[in-house]
Amino acid sequence: MNSYSFFILPFVPLTSYRIAMSYPYQIKSFEVYQSTYQQSIEDPAGFWAGIAEHFTWRKKWHTALEWNFTEPNVKWFQGGKMNITENCLDRHLAERGEQAAIIWEPNQPNEAARTLTYRELHEQVCQFAQVLRNNGVRKGDRVCIYMGMIPELAIAVLACARIGAIHSVVFGGFSAQSISDRLQDAQAAFIVTCDGAFRGAKDIPLKNIIDDALIGYDGIERVIVCARTNTPVSMLKGRDVWWEEEMNKVAESGTTVNFAEEMDAEDPLFILYTSGSTGKPKGVVHACGGYMVYANYTFVNVFQYQTGQIHFCTADIGWITGHSYILYGPLSAGATTLMFEGIPTWPDAGRFWDIIDKYRVNIFYTAPTAIRSLMGFGKEPLQGKDLSSLQVLGTVGEPINEEAWHWYDENVGKKKCPIVDTWWQTETGGCLISNLAGITPAKPSWATLPLPGVQLLLVDENGNEKTAVGDETIAGNLCIKAPWPSILRTTYGDHERCRQNYFATYPGLYFTGDGALRDKDGFYRITGRVDDVLNVSGHRIGTAEVENAINMHAGVVESAVVGFPHAIKGQGIYAFVIYQGSHDPHAHGSDDLIRNDILQTVTRVIGPIAKPDKIQLVSGLPKTRSGKIMRRILRKIAEGETENLGDTTTLLDPGVVEEIMKGKL
Ligand code: WT7
Repeated sequence: MNSYSFFILPFVPLTSYRIAMSYPYQIKSFEVYQSTYQQSIEDPAGFWAGIAEHFTWRKKWHTALEWNFTEPNVKWFQGGKMNITENCLDRHLAERGEQAAIIWEPNQPNEAARTLTYRELHEQVCQFAQVLRNNGVRKGDRVCIYMGMIPELAIAVLACARIGAIHSVVFGGFSAQSISDRLQDAQAAFIVTCDGAFRGAKDIPLKNIIDDALIGYDGIERVIVCARTNTPVSMLKGRDVWWEEEMNKVAESGTTVNFAEEMDAEDPLFILYTSGSTGKPKGVVHACGGYMVYANYTFVNVFQYQTGQIHFCTADIGWITGHSYILYGPLSAGATTLMFEGIPTWPDAGRFWDIIDKYRVNIFYTAPTAIRSLMGFGKEPLQGKDLSSLQVLGTVGEPINEEAWHWYDENVGKKKCPIVDTWWQTETGGCLISNLAGITPAKPSWATLPLPGVQLLLVDENGNEKTAVGDETIAGNLCIKAPWPSILRTTYGDHERCRQNYFATYPGLYFTGDGALRDKDGFYRITGRVDDVLNVSGHRIGTAEVENAINMHAGVVESAVVGFPHAIKGQGIYAFVIYQGSHDPHAHGSDDLIRNDILQTVTRVIGPIAKPDKIQLVSGLPKTRSGKIMRRILRKIAEGETENLGDTTTLLDPGVVEEIMKGKL
């Protein structure tokens, strides 16, 4: 019991309304997994068409699959007409209208929780869909959603899908500049936001940040603002309107119609921006039909979802994990999904355990970084928390080390819950490699086997497939041979960039950017990115992007950013910076002042999530004679390597390396 439970009203689960939904495609044994996998590889189109039969289509597709990885061109369920929200909402109303669709736990433990039944969620989504239409949003328009984790965020996302508008959710930790870049790239004319967001002890002024983002961007027609923190905001006449007032207008006029736009299976459903190894973030585009089928299929199979269970995914909806496994996967399966506004360590490090206890959570899905951080608080926060409702645990976002895996298994799952280690990416839409909870074997720190329809291979730098001799475990770059239904279709506004990024490194293959091992049983272990992308606390950050941000600081001449092993975050950000600024008064102060200035700049340009953990001021960077920075050397220095830096003979000025090593932080 924590000190806040006194204020909590007892939560009454709506068990009596849980009518079993059947998932005939749920794999129930290892043998069935093997035969299903085989079948899915022999006839991918036929296999996925068979799965797609279990959804609501207004018109059936004529061609299940058409593809090539050279353009690339991938089309699933062509000719099929549907709306994903009819699959997530309408089709459940008769059987489970009164069942909780979303349970919402607020940031403040003493604030009342909210539950939306499928009927209520359907009603709110239709109503907000009407608000969007009244404000000029039409099919195909891009709507940027910048909100905290409140039920209205789910409603806004689904309302966009309802009318065929393309949502682009931007995580609340990104800066005004990042939002502005994303608005520009997507040519978005509409924004849905909040006055502010509560996250732990913080109150993030979302609307102010949006106002800053809009200083340099005049393409916005309407900003819809939902009141959450009741902090002061500036509402611009003719541009900004309140969520609540707009909803009331619709309710009073009785104009809400149960309307859902008829979408082609290949129409875009959403854009989600993600970092790569070069330049600005890319807008990954997912298509309605394939994404729906795959998010649902993987939710039902990986977590082995059973009717009546309560599923708690701790991600933010600003990331793909939240899209697929808080919203679209669970809701399309008629599940009860738990949405949490706050953070794991506030008001104390027992918050997740309190929530599991309070709602009798059955499936708990989180990131290794959260597990490692909670491990650091010891077992005390777990004392007195009843976790006996848990049946399945999951991890996502980064490799999980064995120590964290065992801690999770022993202290959270009490050695009774299978743990699924799910490997996937923003671009893949859903899990591609994972054990199936309690059905296929787990192996600590291994993501294990591919899901049906996923054809993996490991290649060397030249793209030659690697094959094992005997029982050896092999290593290589992880690629995929053929499309699964929720593969990205393009990067918004720039198809060539999509080709270059994912399909050009190894022609004919989708390249994940990850390195992996494969053992004699065919199990995969992801070893991490092999490109210039960092994975910090399960979030992807491009080194080039951080360098660009640092270089925007007036006193910075040049910088190089690499990752280093970090006990909690998995990877930390290490920046080597040449600072000059001769007339800059801060340049004559302490190095700490300069470092803080740089952190300030990164926060402004990208957001606090991209702040380097270490900034080393240097007089030069190791470069080849052609001027290329040798990151390999910097990476080794950041990792703490003191001797084996590899070949340094091609360096322009080898002396610089010694100086950098001396000044290592
Ligand atoms: C990158 C994708 C998928 C949603 C969260 C991150 C790493 C993801 C695992 C895992 C080892 C993992 C990979 C991947 N990653 N899951 N289970 N084991 N690494 O999505 O931001 O698109 O990042 O996260 O490096 O490429 P993302």
